[in-house]
Amino acid sequence: MEKKRILTGDRTTGKLHLGHYVGSLQNRVKLQDEYETFILLADIQALTTHFENPELINGSIYDVAIDNLSIGLDPEKVNIIQQSQIPSIAELTVFYSMLVSVNFLRHNPTIKTEAKNYGYDDMTYGFLGYPVSQAADITFCKANLVPVGDDQLPHIEVARKIVRRFNDLYHGNLVEPEAMLSSTPRLMGLDGNAKMGKSLGNAIYLSDTADTVNQKVRAAVTDKSRISVKDPGHPDICVVSKYHQVFNNSEYENICEMCRGSAIGCVACKKKLAEALNNLLDPFREKRAYYEEHKDLVRDLIHAGSEKANKIGAETVQEVKEAMSIHLG
Ligand code: TRP
Repeated sequence: MEKKRILTGDRTTGKLHLGHYVGSLQNRVKLQDEYETFILLADIQALTTHFENPELINGSIYDVAIDNLSIGLDPEKVNIIQQSQIPSIAELTVFYSMLVSVNFLRHNPTIKTEAKNYGYDDMTYGFLGYPVSQAADITFCKANLVPVGDDQLPHIEVARKIVRRFNDLYHGNLVEPEAMLSSTPRLMGLDGNAKMGKSLGNAIYLSDTADTVNQKVRAAVTDKSRISVKDPGHPDICVVSKYHQVFNNSEYENICEMCRGSAIGCVACKKKLAEALNNLLDPFREKRAYYEEHKDLVRDLIHAGSEKANKIGAETVQEVKEAMSIHLG
């Protein structure tokens, strides 16, 4: 029996961080044996917000590919593909754009939040429509499952809606994808911001050195009411404690106890966290170093993956066109 498929991806607007890891990357590694996996380097989607800085997008393609490989995705198993090299995604986007209304897109909560964060008062047509293009990313290979962070749920809904509409109207065979959410809640920033994000300047990158991680953790905000070790701490309102829960779970309860009982201070607690993070990141650093030295290999992987995607995509476009009677009679 053929394996079911996963498609997920990342915008190539910079390096990936622990928030990506917890939200989606971790799941990719777990599922790579069970599913045929496609990892999309979304360089066209990156243009929707970074069209004024195309060099950044181009420069991030290898970074994001290597981020994915460094965490344990096996190049023998997964297909790493580049959005701009798969024209059928662009073609499908045009066909799908007939099936969604502008009002529906304007009410997408993630689009609204992002438009606000980027300060758009008159967003581009490309930005408003990127969920349609994302539906094309997902459906060109008829992906069944899409591992993503919760901010992407509205976009998966757009894809599902397009697929249902298409199948209803044209008796099509597109596959309605399902989102797969991480069981770990969204990672806060160590600065206390509700989200870790590259644009928020509070990210710990998968590619950070141990020293950088130590530094970033040392600068984290903690329970502000705790001036000295003697003041009992409040782990339930401390970001560092939340990180222990995610990245150092075996010690988590114990550390909370000690914090409440003034048996550990913030400096020591942060040191433990930095250690746990570096333990997680060390094997990633090793793999990264290998791929950084073998960029040709990464290049070949992206080429081969995109070529395979092109074959599959061309078939889907053919199907979609036939269903929509786009041909010379
Ligand atoms: N929008 C996603 C993000 O910002 C990236 C992305 C592009 C994606 N195409 C996709 C995710 C298809 C899942 C499926 O992280």
